[in-house]
Amino acid sequence: MPEPLIELTDLCKRYGPRTVLDGVSLQAAAGEALAIIGPSGSGKSTMLRCINGLHDWDAGRVRVGPHTIKAGERARHVWPQVRRLVGMIFQDFQLFPHLTALENVAEAPQRVLRWPRNRAHQRAQELLDRVGLAERAAAYPQQLSGGQKQRVAIARALAMQPQALLCDEITSALDPELKQEVLSVLEGLKRDGLTLLMVTHEIGFARRAADRVVVVAEGRVIEEGPPKQVLDAPQSPRTRQLLAGQL
Ligand SMILES: Nc1ncnc2c1ncn2[C@@H]1O[C@H](COP(=O)(O)OP(=O)(O)OP(=O)(O)O)[C@@H](O)[C@H]1O
Ligand SMILES: [Mg+2]
Repeated sequence: MPEPLIELTDLCKRYGPRTVLDGVSLQAAAGEALAIIGPSGSGKSTMLRCINGLHDWDAGRVRVGPHTIKAGERARHVWPQVRRLVGMIFQDFQLFPHLTALENVAEAPQRVLRWPRNRAHQRAQELLDRVGLAERAAAYPQQLSGGQKQRVAIARALAMQPQALLCDEITSALDPELKQEVLSVLEGLKRDGLTLLMVTHEIGFARRAADRVVVVAEGRVIEEGPPKQVLDAPQSPRTRQLLAGQL
């Protein structure tokens, strides 16, 4: 078994008296797709945000590729390198409203990688093509549907050529037919070998696209395994409740 690309070890995070992550350990191999499910407030977003340094934490460590960050380390010079390896996409897209789809995708390569405008725009056009939006390059976010905006956000994350994407409920704000176009893009990325950590409520999608389902409750991983095992024959009563829509 090769070394995992992403590894969380005994991660703990507290807000005042409240423990939000209570010793989370999790590994994702390169090219693996993880579906992370769990009740609201169980710590799923917090966990993803620790992986690319949007939060600090109180104990344990995060490793991404060659970079290990321990609790309390400021690691200011390391996070930009981690974020090159691991992109993140959010439920609310977080596109720049004053930039076109193309400019949104080309922005980071120009600013961070110092690519010349022509090269960045050419690459952005290719990425918009890949997510099925070649025709909408000149549109501003407000002129796009939710599903289109989310696909621009995916293209923008891909522009930095990450090895992994962290997806935090990226279809939750979308109508059912728009969800599908975003989920199809994710399935394509998985086929292309990208590592995916996806917090999702889409059980059907998890069954279809994930290599492994991870169940989080009260800041712990309570169960994980292949989708068939976890979704069809869950061991934990809490997983059964969750899948029955009771959590
Ligand atoms: N800045 C904060 N200050 C205090 N508590 C916080 C803060 N951010 C999150 N929390 C708490 O941490 C817990 C975990 O939150 P988190 O957003 O990770 O949950 P989640 O599993 O992503 O939930 P959801 O499915 O609703 O998105 C929640 O109880 C939340 O109220
Ligand atoms: Mg969340």
